[in-house]
Amino acid sequence: MNYPFWEVPFLGSSSVIAIIAIFHVMISQFAVGGGLWLPMAERKALLEGRTDWMAQLKAHSRFFLLITGVFGTVSGVGIWFAIGLTQPEATSTLIHNFVFGWAMEWVFFLIELTTIAVYYYTWDRIPAKLHLAVGWLYAGSSVCTLIIINGILTFMLTPGDTWLAVAGTGAEASKFWNAFFNPTYWPSLLMRTLVCISLAGVWALVTGSRIDSDKQPALKASYLRWTTRWLVPSFVLMPLTLLWYLLTVPASQRALLTLGISTIGSGTFSQVTRLALVMIITSATIIVVTYYLAYKNPKDFTLAHASAIVILALMATGTGEQAREMLRKPFVIGRHMYSNGLRVSEVAGRNQNGYLEHSLWLNQGTSAHWAQGEAMYRGQCGACHTLTGYRALNKLLANRDRQSVGSLLTMLHEYKADLAYRKFMPPLTGTNEEIEALGDYLYAQASPNAPKPTTPSPMLKAER
Ligand code: HEC
Repeated sequence: MNYPFWEVPFLGSSSVIAIIAIFHVMISQFAVGGGLWLPMAERKALLEGRTDWMAQLKAHSRFFLLITGVFGTVSGVGIWFAIGLTQPEATSTLIHNFVFGWAMEWVFFLIELTTIAVYYYTWDRIPAKLHLAVGWLYAGSSVCTLIIINGILTFMLTPGDTWLAVAGTGAEASKFWNAFFNPTYWPSLLMRTLVCISLAGVWALVTGSRIDSDKQPALKASYLRWTTRWLVPSFVLMPLTLLWYLLTVPASQRALLTLGISTIGSGTFSQVTRLALVMIITSATIIVVTYYLAYKNPKDFTLAHASAIVILALMATGTGEQAREMLRKPFVIGRHMYSNGLRVSEVAGRNQNGYLEHSLWLNQGTSAHWAQGEAMYRGQCGACHTLTGYRALNKLLANRDRQSVGSLLTMLHEYKADLAYRKFMPPLTGTNEEIEALGDYLYAQASPNAPKPTTPSPMLKAER
């Protein structure tokens, strides 16, 4: 069955996922890294007997509880809503394969939420050692959430040959562990761990910046200096880890990146290169600002500086996640399901019996031909394009006449092995009649003078 399509004007539904996800990743990775940061900082303060640090850590843990407990959880639920609406078929596949993984994930979430609340509310109320133990319990459970979600996220890019061999047979769940520990699992886990550690540092700079430089200069200096060290591991190890990660991505997917690099400035996918550049520039700026201000000159470090670093980190995270999404094109689940929810195994059947045979949701208010074209566009192009906004088809098709729109669709339909579009677009499926309807519909979007068959269907006229 084709699910109903969630049409989001201008942005496109996939951008909605991206916006929520970037926000969520930034907070959830802070939840993991900051979870380690807190007990480590508390341990240091206990060992050195620093009461000024203890008071500061209490303030930081309140900030931590609010950010992760409120915004982290709300954005997490937001992702479920967004992917459920935008990618119902893929979400269903993930749930069917990983129901046990998600069950474990939720258990750890529950432990996380409970322990962080206990941690914050028991400062100075229970013995120091016990309090620290609660902190470690939080840290352990939040690391477990990363360990689990990483298996599911990497699966989408590289499900692995073993799982692919049983995909569609009903025995997919028997290959749970192969799917989970898939080819990109380990490099991705290392990469995300490094990001978590540096985000712990980035957010602690925010609370550190608010320490009064006149009243507590020593606290501010020691707190900020200790915190800046959390940024170091990722800057030292990230390039190597990224290389390892890219080497585990199938060459065909990696080609999307090289395509960008070798055709920089010439259009297609130079986007990917731009993303990489933004990532490098933001990371470099963060390290320079952090070193010269927070480390060398802690008393002059203000909330404005810290906020600038947070925004840069947000940009780096965002571009990193976007590059990962880009690498996965044209699939939502590598080599198994295209971004528009069509399984690779379904292509032949849809060509033979029609794509719309599976759509129970044709727009009855317009002529059948127009409704067909609209449903074809929504089902097969709308996952990546909008009509007039993000990756707008009215612009991409603007200079084509009807015949040329038709020949593009034919190319996508035939999907020959040497077709350049194969690198990022799925095949167009359906009968000739359906593809004609799509062509008329798209041509009408892109060319103002094209006929727009919007007259109500005869059936509806009769009803009026
Ligand atoms: C998996 C995502 C995806 C799907 C689904 C998809 N496209 Fe695309 N399409 C892209 C990307 C990515 C580009 C490159 C955009 C760019 O260069 O900015 C693109 C480019 C295009 C272009 C411009 C090509 C050129 O050479 O200028 C056209 C036209 C187009 N798509 C039409 C379609 C149509 C029609 C459909 C539905 C049958 C469709 N696309 C489905 C991802 C997709």
